[in-house]
This record gives sequence, structure tokens and C-alpha cells, in this order.
Amino acid sequence: MANNFLGHHLFQFLVLSCFFFMAVAATKPRLLVEKTHLSTISVQGKPTAVEYKVYNVGDAEATHIFLDDRSSFPTQEFTIEKGFLYVQFPKIAAKSNLTHVVVVKPNKMGSFEDKPARLTFTDPKTGVPEVVYSTSMGKVSVYRQKEYNYVFGSKAEHFLKFALIVAPLTFVPLGFAIRSKNRYTLVKKSY
Ligand SMILES: *[C@@H]1O[C@H](CO)[C@@H](O)[C@H](O)[C@H]1NC(C)=O
Repeated sequence: MANNFLGHHLFQFLVLSCFFFMAVAATKPRLLVEKTHLSTISVQGKPTAVEYKVYNVGDAEATHIFLDDRSSFPTQEFTIEKGFLYVQFPKIAAKSNLTHVVVVKPNKMGSFEDKPARLTFTDPKTGVPEVVYSTSMGKVSVYRQKEYNYVFGSKAEHFLKFALIVAPLTFVPLGFAIRSKNRYTLVKKSY
């Protein structure tokens, strides 16, 4: 009887340990990378910031993290004003994030292809490196300073002229919409 009791507990213990080791083995780092161009419009010769956010959504630490975005900003076409396009972080804890910013200046007008940045990291438990890619903006237009000033002129005068032109186009339909909504409400009430 006592023997049987002990056997039962030993079995339970073994099953529980098994689950425990399976759970430990299943914890692993999982990284996601989000790339954002902080200015929505790129202008030739004007510095623009690019931000990389690395999230570890896994439940274990990642080590030996290398972020590489040199293919998006080749040095013949861009000047790196600040930061590095190839950078290493020693580690990123589970459920945490880090941010990296690079300031680049497009040397030419036209357009360029913003490619996904490549990130490699290691799961310290297995020592196996993994590769993930960031989001990317795809095709990005680079305007000439003159075009930029003309279209997005920062002068207040420019803005006012623009506002005067678009105001009727914006507010007249809005007026119609409000009036017809009132009419609709009245009709509905009379029932
Ligand atoms: C990123 O990490 C900081 C602390 O380092 C934390 O305050 C913030 O909430 C985290 N953001 C996300 C989206 O996880």
C-alpha cells in the first residue's frame, strides 16, 4: 500500500518535471523590427532621421544583436550625418525594446528603394543565430529643395493662399452635409 502511494507520487513528480523542462525549453527570444522615416518627405541635401525599434516579444533574452541597414542607404547616394547603419547591441531582455536612430542626407533627387533592415541575434541557450527583417517604406521620393519650398512652402503667406483656395472646397460640402443631415433628422422625427 505504502509502496503504491510512493509510486504514485513519483509518477506525478516525473510528469511535472517533464512539463517544467518542456516549458523552460520553449522559452525563446523573438525579435521584431520596425523602421520608420521620421520625416514623411525627403529632400535632397536635407538631413532626415530614420528610427529602428527592436522589440523582444519572446520570453527569453536575445544576445549578439546586429542591425544592418547599409543596403538601404548606399554611401554614394547618402551621407550619414549621425549614427551607424551597422550597429551591435550586446543583449535585449525578454519583453523589452530598444531604439536606434540614424540621420541620413540624400545626395541626389529622384527616388530610392527603402529595403528592410537585416537583424541577426542569438538565443544564448542554443547559441544558434537567427535572422529577421524590419518593415520598410518601399519607394521613397527625394524632392529638390526648390520643389519642396514650392509645394510645402513653410512661409505663412504660402499657407494662407493655399487655405483660401481650399476653404470653399472643404467647407461648402460640409455645409451641405450638415443641412441634409438636419433635414434627415427632421423627417425621422416626424414619424
Ligand atoms: C519600451 O521600453 C520602455 C522601457 O525601456 C517601456 O517604458 C516602453 O513601454 C516599451 N514600449 C513598448 C511598446 O513595449
